[in-house]
Amino acid sequence: MFDYLQKWAQIGTLTWYDELKRYTLDIACRLLVGVSTAADEQLEKVYEIWSDGLLSIPVRFPGSKFERAVRAREQLLTQFDKLIDQRQQNPTIKQDILSILLAAKDEEGNALSRIDIKDNVLGMLVAGHETLTSALSSLCQLLAQHPEVLEMLRAEQLRLGNPTTLTQETLKQMTYLEQVLKEVLRLIPPVVRSGSRKVVESSEFGGYKIPQGWDVYYQIPETHQDRQIYKNSAQFDPDRFSPERAEDKQKVFSHIPFGGGIRECLGKEFARLEIKIFAALIVRKYQWELLPNQNLARTVLPFSRPRDGLKVKFWRNESGSGVKSY
Ligand code: HEM
Repeated sequence: MFDYLQKWAQIGTLTWYDELKRYTLDIACRLLVGVSTAADEQLEKVYEIWSDGLLSIPVRFPGSKFERAVRAREQLLTQFDKLIDQRQQNPTIKQDILSILLAAKDEEGNALSRIDIKDNVLGMLVAGHETLTSALSSLCQLLAQHPEVLEMLRAEQLRLGNPTTLTQETLKQMTYLEQVLKEVLRLIPPVVRSGSRKVVESSEFGGYKIPQGWDVYYQIPETHQDRQIYKNSAQFDPDRFSPERAEDKQKVFSHIPFGGGIRECLGKEFARLEIKIFAALIVRKYQWELLPNQNLARTVLPFSRPRDGLKVKFWRNESGSGVKSY
């Protein structure tokens, strides 16, 4: 992460969303297949072409976004094939997701097929870094707009002695940071589309009968804006998650950026860890301000992001004091 922070400070003026996406893609690729996209720029380029075409009109004519995305997907799968071959010829002690999937067996001792492994890796690559990019960019935006919150985060880090080794134990002590992250994910959830569930047994809810076999949908942003749960729900207010107020604890499923129940996000704990480490390190020594004349309204497909990509001035702050914002 320090490489990225230094690079951003050197560049000085950033469209931060794109840079954050590069950072999270690099982490996701290291975690999933043990390859750093910082070192393998080709992988990053191919991935970009593919993800760019995910929501394009599915018509295959030469040069179209969709056609290029299909070809990029084939290239990615070929790359995964090579990585799987290498792993099988030279089993290493690498503990990435690819190794775990290759070693996985069901109750009858059957391994996953190659196609399943590649599909899973690709699925997790999207699920695992675009959402995180959205969350990190919202965190950075809200901290620039609320310097008093940033100051409190810095004070917490200072109180804990700015620990250089971040363990589960030190991260657990960052309780104000935890509140801030919950509030970021409440106010600007990365996933805004409805989640669906199949009704397995006829039931009743709020006076309505819901027959077995129906699909029901839950809404993340609407739940997070519910004024019966959250006071002044449009406001950024991390203290709503303090132990005294704990607004999300009055009803189950009040805070659902990761969905809920048995199909809750598989990467939830990893995502929380990654955001926490990023936040703890960036607030200590770095400073940023939002550039004027940019559109901060959000576009939400496929994941929530600021329309102009969050333009900022970014620098290393030796004294460790406040953040300006427009
Ligand atoms: C801030 C980051 C993230 C957010 C907000 C997020 C949000 C979500 C949401 C809302 C769902 C649907 C859950 C449901 O229907 O109840 C989901 C599913 C999923 N997420 Fe995440 N996610 C994040 C990060 C990650 C990461 C880092 C990974 C993997 C490394 C990941 C892997 C998955 C997978 C595999 C599913 C499908 C689970 C299933 O269908 O059983 N996510 N995520």
